[in-house]
Amino acid sequence: MQKELEEYRWWQKGIIYQVYPRSFKDASGDGTGDLQGIMQKLDYLAWLGVDAVWVSPIYPSPMDDFGYDITDYTGIEPLFGSMQDFDELLHLIHQKGMKLILDLVPNHTSYLHPWFKESRSSRDNPRRDWYIWRDPAPDGGPPNNWQSVFGGSGWEWDEETGQYYYHAFLKEQPDLNWRNPDVKKAMFDVMRFWLEKGVDGFRVDVIWHLMKDHLFRDNPPNPDYIEGEPDIKRYLNAYSEDQPGVHDIIAGMRKVMDPYGERLLIGEIYLPIGRLVTYYGKEGAGVHLPFNFQLIQVAWDAESIYALVNEYEGSLLPGNWPNWVLGNHDKDRVLSRIGEQQARLAAVLLLTLRGTPTMYYGDEIGMHDVHIPPERIQDPKELTMPGYSRDPQRTPMQWSNAAYAGFSETEPWLPLADDYQARNVETEKEAAGSMLSLYKRLIEVRKQEPALQVGDFIPLGLQGQLMVFKRIHNGAGVLVAINFGKEKAVYQSETKLQGEILISVSGKPEGRLVADSISIEGEDAVVVRLD
Ligand code: NOJ
Repeated sequence: MQKELEEYRWWQKGIIYQVYPRSFKDASGDGTGDLQGIMQKLDYLAWLGVDAVWVSPIYPSPMDDFGYDITDYTGIEPLFGSMQDFDELLHLIHQKGMKLILDLVPNHTSYLHPWFKESRSSRDNPRRDWYIWRDPAPDGGPPNNWQSVFGGSGWEWDEETGQYYYHAFLKEQPDLNWRNPDVKKAMFDVMRFWLEKGVDGFRVDVIWHLMKDHLFRDNPPNPDYIEGEPDIKRYLNAYSEDQPGVHDIIAGMRKVMDPYGERLLIGEIYLPIGRLVTYYGKEGAGVHLPFNFQLIQVAWDAESIYALVNEYEGSLLPGNWPNWVLGNHDKDRVLSRIGEQQARLAAVLLLTLRGTPTMYYGDEIGMHDVHIPPERIQDPKELTMPGYSRDPQRTPMQWSNAAYAGFSETEPWLPLADDYQARNVETEKEAAGSMLSLYKRLIEVRKQEPALQVGDFIPLGLQGQLMVFKRIHNGAGVLVAINFGKEKAVYQSETKLQGEILISVSGKPEGRLVADSISIEGEDAVVVRLD
């Protein structure tokens, strides 16, 4: 007997929705989204049926990395609103039965944070050791070969004090020294500040970066590096990330959170599955959800997807709760990666696989990457790594076919997609075959079928490009068949298939199924509640 649905945590049953605040809804009329804007759209999120809203950073920031460079961890960036707005947002989200997850960025601050200003002011400043300062190598160059994710060396020379500081991202984002107990304490206090307010969890930015090798050893060269790839790939990052000590830090975070009840700790982690799952930690001392980005990275064909799902499922230990992500503010949009029809199949996967789904704003209406003309480029990554801008996937949410897509009353900070008049919430709500209708229906069905929310995952096989699996909870079963290929495919079952077709992506009439086989058209999928 499996546990009853009620015995699962909200975040096991729920669906997370990521809001990129600059681009969700602009209420103030300055072209950039804000907290009041999010409040205006909560009814939409409740209608869609998501359970938790994760908001990317809203703290005071010079916006060198659009909020992932913070100058005050317990404040609100005026561009987004005030602390009063925040309190109201939290209250409204709760009132509508949803949860709020904040972004926590503990790996680095802005170079303008008072902590860093103090730290760089002199070698003997009490906050010197809050950041990672090292003497130059004997040749005067950087202390070691660690690279920045945003290109070039990870070390920046400070003329004034004659040392280098480490920054895994922009030089405007110096890394904190998590070996210093005062840093730990300060960040844990930040967490408590928001927990006391009532936030329901954190998505922790680059959590696997928090701890670095204490000997600062050089990373070994990457034998597979291809010239022209980002600098960060030149070496295997054996010493600059994913160090054993990181798990103690995470255990500390859990200690801070657990007394507050059912709060959720998510870790942003880009590592292979084998390493990823170590972040669940021992006996509940890890993150609840190490973000699983495998569907973003996998080669998009049935064989690879089927192998991936099985490998991931097989890597989880009892008590490890799975999760799936299709996109975020750092990655090309799913629709641009795999095309519209496949993006529909991806939606089916996301919402029928076992584990908490995280959706990225706009994917549910089929937003695609938007071409950004050179004069409108915003992302600093484009400056340090030309061609790697993340602006295309951060464009304003398309609410209606009104001016500026109903996002703002003025020209938005990033250009709108040119097809927003057809692809927007208002229009798609009314259209039976739209991406939004599919998402809405998938969410509805997931909510009404405990097997989809918490049921076991049972792979039934791969026949050509047709992937078939079952979800089972206390005897109730749902069958999912997804045909990634362009040709019609048939799934031959060993037992009689009997049930009700709840969803058909192509929109074929739903209804009863009684057969020994199911035939699925190319790039179509069905979800069937078995009798
Ligand atoms: C990961 C965030 O998602 C990304 O947007 C940011 O640039 C880096 N971390 C640095 O904070």
